[in-house]
Order: sequence, then structure tokens, then C-alpha cells
Amino acid sequence: MAEKSEYCEHILLSRVDLENSTSIDVYLKSGGYETLKKTVSGRQPQEIVDVVRESGLRGRGGAGFPAGVKWGFLPKDSKLPIYLIGNADEGEPGTFKDRVLIEKDPHQLIEGMAITAFAIKCHTAYIYIRGEFAKGAKILNKAIDEAYEKGFLGDKVCGTDFKFDIYVHRGAGAYVCGEETALIESIEGKKGQPRLKPPFPANVGVFQGPTIVNNVETLSSVPWIVKNGAEAYRKYGTEKSAGTKLFCVSGHVEKPGVYELPLGFPLMQLVNEVCGGVKDGKKLKGVIPGGSSTPILTPEECENVNLDYESLMEAGSMLGSGAVIVLDETVDIVRVAARLGKFYSHESCGQCTPCREGSGYISGLLQRLNEGKGEEGDLELIESLCDNMAGKTVCPLADAMVMPVKGFLKKFRSEFEARIRKKAYQKADKG
Ligand SMILES: Cc1cc2nc3c(=O)[nH]c(=O)nc-3n(C[C@H](O)[C@H](O)[C@H](O)COP(=O)(O)O)c2cc1C
Ligand code: SF4
Repeated sequence: MAEKSEYCEHILLSRVDLENSTSIDVYLKSGGYETLKKTVSGRQPQEIVDVVRESGLRGRGGAGFPAGVKWGFLPKDSKLPIYLIGNADEGEPGTFKDRVLIEKDPHQLIEGMAITAFAIKCHTAYIYIRGEFAKGAKILNKAIDEAYEKGFLGDKVCGTDFKFDIYVHRGAGAYVCGEETALIESIEGKKGQPRLKPPFPANVGVFQGPTIVNNVETLSSVPWIVKNGAEAYRKYGTEKSAGTKLFCVSGHVEKPGVYELPLGFPLMQLVNEVCGGVKDGKKLKGVIPGGSSTPILTPEECENVNLDYESLMEAGSMLGSGAVIVLDETVDIVRVAARLGKFYSHESCGQCTPCREGSGYISGLLQRLNEGKGEEGDLELIESLCDNMAGKTVCPLADAMVMPVKGFLKKFRSEFEARIRKKAYQKADKG
């Protein structure tokens, strides 16, 4: 599933093809844990924060916030313990990159977390892993055991006074628990419902302690950056979107999979050249570029857009988690919208009225449209509901539903209107 390409050096996927890539011996043979050793025995925490900030590494969980800047928000001289959380919830539909990093190169993540912990003066970390990733949790636990045995984790990391422990915490299947504050509640043993921000986790996080939550891909990038330096990382990508990124391509392409590419890579080059084109030579209908929460792009919009934070924002969508979902000409957009609506209304945690009521209402209207039972005025009603949800809730899950729904209505409106006119019956989606 993880495919190597010739477009850039592999920072994240360099080991995934090796036999026994999850074992510590293979990791050590390829230079693994050398950077951790050098970091804890000869460098200052602030130096590491500075390198990561200067590298321009932005969070790969969706929002793209600069990692080093976030680390800098931690209070100086905190009396409470500082925590680090590796976000491995990976619930965004279309996203399957963190799974590859965990299942193929768990030590890279562990080393990244240990270096990050040293930089932010943290001694305890959690990896919050999606409940369905039973295999990944097993691989991680085994890798963590190996790291303890070799002295890369524990009371004396690499023989120094730096103490660092990692615990794996399995989720129970809620998409909203990928949101950092819901995740923190869940680790604390409570119902996984997002908290109001501020305070942000960097000030008040898990067990009230200052907490940094970073995505698995973000943390897995850290060893390479600290080893090779900020400038080397900035050789890839664009000025504002530095480095390489994993793109998980799914849907109607000849070669779906996870590809590591420099940020700023042209979207259509990814579809046509890297992924072998739209499946069976069919025409492209649209691309959802960054996971199901990001607005769809029409073929014309796809033509000249690059895969980086700024270019996709300019095109009216987002890079999100880097999940590129390709849809061919046969796709029924009304059905896609109805399916996504069902997902978001099911995953709403229910604590905010606009999200709880609005998501269910919109989903019901989309199902009705999909079944050919839509009424005149339904589209306007959906749009009005969307406007009453976006930006009015505790967490961005409501926006994550509104953005794609509005995109479908705006760009493929004629399909929705035709469905209302014809009242064509579509088999209800039982998924
Ligand atoms: C509904 C929702 C689900 C999310 N799911 C994930 C997820 O599965 N994995 C992830 O890393 N971030 C997810 N996020 C983003 C996190 O809240 C947080 O921004 C991220 O883990 C920070 O890490 P980063 O700065 O390295 O990207 C989600 C956000 C929302 C609103
Ligand atoms: S927006 Fe939705 S998912 Fe987020 S806190 Fe409110 S009800 Fe829960």
C-alpha cells in the first residue's frame, strides 16, 4: 500500500519496504535511534524546538499548524508535568497514512516522540490509537517493549538522566476523539467530547497538565529533521509548506496507495502520472483533496492546483490530512453527499445544539434527496442550516460537515436539482 516514488527523497517512508521493517534491529541497522542518542546526550531542548520551528514542519493532522511554534506555547517552568500525545486516531474518511507509519515503521514514531519529549521537557507520553487499528496497537506495543529493552525508553534514556515513558491508549471508535480535546477527555477516562478552547491543550491538557498533541506523521518527521537540519528539510516543498507529505490516494485511480511527495506537487500529476490515471480510462468528475471534510474540486479546478496548504486554500479547498479521493464520471454526487451527511451526523457528539440538530436535519434531507423524494426548497434549507452551524460550535466537526456539503451543492447543483425534478428513486444507502 505504501508506494515509493522518484519525486523526492523518502523522509518518512525510507524503511517501509525493508524486510522486518518493524523490528528494532532493522531500525538500528539503518541508523535509527542515533539522533535520539545525540540529542539527549549533547543538545539543549531549546535547540531542538528551534530546529523544528525553522524547518517549517506543519502539523499533518489537518490544520497545518507549525509544530515548533506550538511547542513554544508551553508555559516555561510548569509546576505540573508536561505531556505529549501522538494522535493516531486517523478517523477522517479517506485517510490511511498514519496506519502505514505505525504498521511499517513504529520505531521512527517512537524516536520522534522521544526527541520531541526531550525538546518540550516531557516525561510521559500517550499514543492514542484508533480502536479499529488492533494490528497497529500490537505492533506499537511490541516496538515500545523493544525500545525499553535497549534503553531508548525508561528511566535513563540512552544512559542519561532523561526519563521518558510511552503508553498506548486504544480508542473505542469515535471519529470526534481525533479532535485533540475530545482525545484528552477520552484518555482521562471520560466521554470523548471536545472541550471549549481556550484554554488550549498547551496550557491545560491531559490531567490538567500542559500537553502537546501532534499527529503521527508530524512526530515521525522529527528524527530526520533533527538529524539533517532545518535547511535540508526546506529543500522540499514550498516556502510556506515545507518538506514532504504523505498523500493517501483512494477511489477511481489505477494505483491507489500512500505516496510520499514534496508539498506543492501538482494534483493532476499525482492522479495521472503517479497513480496511473483515472481507473479504466474514464473521465474525472472531481477530487476531494484532503479528506472527506474538504470541499470537492471540479476537473477544471484540479487542472492547475498544487498540493500545499496555500494553493488548495486559494482553490477553495484544503490540504487537510492529505487524503486525495478521486471520483470518476460514474459517481452520483447526491449519493456521495448523502453518505457523508450520514457519517457526520452519526459522529456528532451531541453537546452543541447546532451540530446535534443541524447535522441530523441535513443528513435527513440529503437521504431524502438521494431517494428521489426531495422537495423544492430543500437545497436552500440545507444551505441555511449549514450557515447556522459553521463557526457556531465547540469543535470544528460541524464545519467539517458543512464545508463539503456546501461544496457539493455549489459545484454540482444541477445534479441535486435534476434529482428533485425527476424524483428518480435511488436505492437508499444502507452503509
Ligand atoms: C473532528 C476532528 C477529528 C480529528 N481527527 C484527527 C485525527 O484522527 N488525527 C489527527 O492527527 N488529528 C485529528 N484532528 C486534529 C486534531 O484536533 C489536532 O489538531 C492534531 O492532532 C494536532 O496535531 P498536528 O498539529 O501534528 O496536526 C481532528 C480534528 C477534528 C476537529
Ligand atoms: S461541534 Fe458537534 S462534535 Fe463538536 S463538540 Fe459540538 S456537538 Fe460535539
